Amino acid sequence: MSFHPVEQATARLNRSELAVPGSQPQMFEKAAESDADVIFLDLEDAVAPDEKEQARKNVIKGLNEVDWGNKSMSVRINGLDTHYMYRDVVDVVEQAGERLDLIMIPKVGTAADVYAVDMMVTQIEDAKGYEKRIGFEHIIETALGMQNVTEISAASKRNESLHFGVADYAASTRARTTIIGGVNKDYSVLTDPDADGNRATHWGDMWHYALARMVVAARANGLRPIDGPFGDFKDPDGYKAAAYRAAVLGCEGKWAIHPSQIALANEVMSPSEEEITKAGRILEAMAEAEAAGKGAVSLDGRLIDYASIRQAEVLVEKAKQIAG
Ligand code: GLV
Ligand code: MG
Repeated sequence: MSFHPVEQATARLNRSELAVPGSQPQMFEKAAESDADVIFLDLEDAVAPDEKEQARKNVIKGLNEVDWGNKSMSVRINGLDTHYMYRDVVDVVEQAGERLDLIMIPKVGTAADVYAVDMMVTQIEDAKGYEKRIGFEHIIETALGMQNVTEISAASKRNESLHFGVADYAASTRARTTIIGGVNKDYSVLTDPDADGNRATHWGDMWHYALARMVVAARANGLRPIDGPFGDFKDPDGYKAAAYRAAVLGCEGKWAIHPSQIALANEVMSPSEEEITKAGRILEAMAEAEAAGKGAVSLDGRLIDYASIRQAEVLVEKAKQIAG
């Protein structure tokens, strides 16, 4: 390991993160009964300008009055370039800060954005005498945010997670996309002709670089990388394919913009029985190897070593977290 220790953010189950518009309080009870690990009540893009003030009131009331059980609760505030943002922070943290676990900061662009919100939240928490510290979730969804993702990740002790906001990211980078989080057939490779002259088209994942870049910044700073929305909620297979790609890269959760996506996210982001059993066998085999004075052995015909222990431990730890 490096001499530089990576301090891990507060551990929190974050396989699924349900988006609920603050302007739709009739949805709050159902959301509270869902299996989502985290819920964010939205004051930003799901809320029209005329509804912003009422949505803020709904969110405060909802946080205080609905029984959210042991769910982690977040509020997505408006962007720092709007005049809604300061009231979002002041009113929500002052009036509902005790039930609030996280603040989601959209379109974060620089470390100074994080600093500004941190300063406000710190003053309010101190003034109110709250003991718990509210954490931050950052949506990386602009070219500027992606350019500065490393500094953003390290900008506050409150930071817990980075989220890939694919819809705004596409708008900001002017990527060619038609559906939120979907893929584009123009991002493909054409194989060389086979013996009959036929060529196949292999679709690529146009989000690969962005997601991988965000995962590295998150993990290097002890944060959770979380994949963002998938717009076509009538396409569970497409959702799962996107979630698996994100999970394979290291993400530990994905947004649900519709209740039907919660179970899909929880399934994809939980280690399977098979993986947990395999992890247990790796740990046993390595313990035996160590007792015999060896650093590497073979299991099922494959080499395992101390790095395998670390991988297996991550899985076992996750399974324990899910079991509660
Ligand atoms: C989320 O906010 C997104 O823009 O995808
Ligand atoms: Mg967005």
